[in-house]
Amino acid sequence: MNKRIISTEYMDEDNRIENSLRPKLLNEYIGQAKAKETLRVYIEAAKKRNEPLDHVLLYGPPGLGKTTLAEIIANEMDVNLKITSGPAIEKPGEMAAILNNLSDGDLLFVDEIHRLNRQVEEVMYPAMEDFAIDVIIGKGATAKSIRLDLPKFTLVGATTRAGMMTAPLRDRFGVVHKLEYYTVDELVKIIMRSSRVLKVEIDASGAEEIARRSRGTPRIANRLLKRVRDFAQVVYDGKITYEVAIAALDLLEVDKNGLDNTDRNILLQMIDKFGGGPVGLDTLAAGIGEDAGTIEDVYEPYLLQNGFIARTPRGRIVTERGYRHFGLESGGKDEGEK
Ligand code: ADE
Repeated sequence: MNKRIISTEYMDEDNRIENSLRPKLLNEYIGQAKAKETLRVYIEAAKKRNEPLDHVLLYGPPGLGKTTLAEIIANEMDVNLKITSGPAIEKPGEMAAILNNLSDGDLLFVDEIHRLNRQVEEVMYPAMEDFAIDVIIGKGATAKSIRLDLPKFTLVGATTRAGMMTAPLRDRFGVVHKLEYYTVDELVKIIMRSSRVLKVEIDASGAEEIARRSRGTPRIANRLLKRVRDFAQVVYDGKITYEVAIAALDLLEVDKNGLDNTDRNILLQMIDKFGGGPVGLDTLAAGIGEDAGTIEDVYEPYLLQNGFIARTPRGRIVTERGYRHFGLESGGKDEGEK
């Protein structure tokens, strides 16, 4: 299991608590103002017309609330939510069965939708467009294609890699939203809200320190909050203050910028082995023993967004900020820094 404290992947124990921390309605949802406000309008319009909501595609780095938004949409529309994922569905018949078992208006959430295989994806085209599937009956010369009607459902697709989706699938979503990293202020609000749910006392400076180190990601903020809470309860008097947060987070090796060991490893490898770059993704992945896709989806977006690394036509480079993070000089290797 991935023991990474700032991992954005689901973990069993955390998963259960994470669920309890999730907002259930749009009004409780903090951040992603644009997605929230446009969804609010579409939801209201669909409800007024008594129609299902248009299909929604949510994309962006992991942990920013794609599943949470799907749950909220289902709650706001007052419909059932079925959750599955791209890699979980191997055969077209499995997808056909899932679709056929939905009720009118239901929401089907497909996580990692870019990983649906070609045949399964082809079931989705008529399903999304005409609420129907085409089934082939018989073989050879007598084979016939018949069209089966489906309930009028809403597909909510989520992906960390919008670029890996095929155009025909992407084009069938009426509503497309990119989820952005959260600001420190938004994360402070989320941490305050979660503290109330978890019944742990926290002050503003404690919440802000956790927020700063959560790399713009609510899932990480909530996970760090729980670890700091343990520390506060065992080593201190139970209240999360600035001092408690600093001590706990330092112990977890999550640094002032929210970088953990893997992030630091990436930057240091680039500096030590590749002179700060440019270095290709696969070379870098092999160097630190991580999967290239994981680096691209999970680590790199935050390092890029915060200017620790930059992309150039010849590969990734460490920026001056990346060097300064370790108290090093860049030697003029910051050509790509914005
Ligand atoms: N918990 C996790 N994500 C949240 C969000 N966006 N708003 C409120 N609480 C959350």
